[in-house]
Amino acid sequence: MKKINLTIACLLSILIIGTSFKIIVQPAWVVPEKYVSMANPVKADAKSIAAGKALYSVNCESCHGKKGLGNGSKAADLKTVPGNFTKDAFKAETDGAVFYKITEGRNEMPKAKKDLPNDTDRWNLVNFIRTFAGAK
Ligand code: HEC
Repeated sequence: MKKINLTIACLLSILIIGTSFKIIVQPAWVVPEKYVSMANPVKADAKSIAAGKALYSVNCESCHGKKGLGNGSKAADLKTVPGNFTKDAFKAETDGAVFYKITEGRNEMPKAKKDLPNDTDRWNLVNFIRTFAGAK
């Protein structure tokens, strides 16, 4: 009986520790070199940013939040943490790396190339997401 209780206690602690440290267990997202150095072919002008904004509110805001902080209405139900687009670490990523992550997705982050197969749409999203940088 004691042994069973101990096993249950151990399993419970693993579960609790696992869920409370979801940030720590989320591994770094490695982007292939080809994308890291890929130039953004779409100029970040008002037209591109407006197009990106419209796509973002429909496809991304529910998880990433209105201000890109990663606190959308669905975020609390996720097992992983969406990025915070205003952080320095995110600003340091190249446009190509951000484009890759949007295109391919990972785990709970959907592959946008499925719903948004047009490359220009995804570059417009990159240009829009960049406008969060520096926002508090
Ligand atoms: C269902 C929730 C969800 C939706 C919808 C979603 N994302 Fe994400 N996103 C995530 C999660 C979770 C991660 C973190 C994934 C990981 O690290 O494994 C993420 C990561 C990212 C990253 C990388 C962040 C970083 O710090 O490097 C970018 C960029 C991104 N998402 C953009 C978008 C865009 C643009 C859309 C809309 C086309 C979108 N996401 C839609 C949940 C979502």
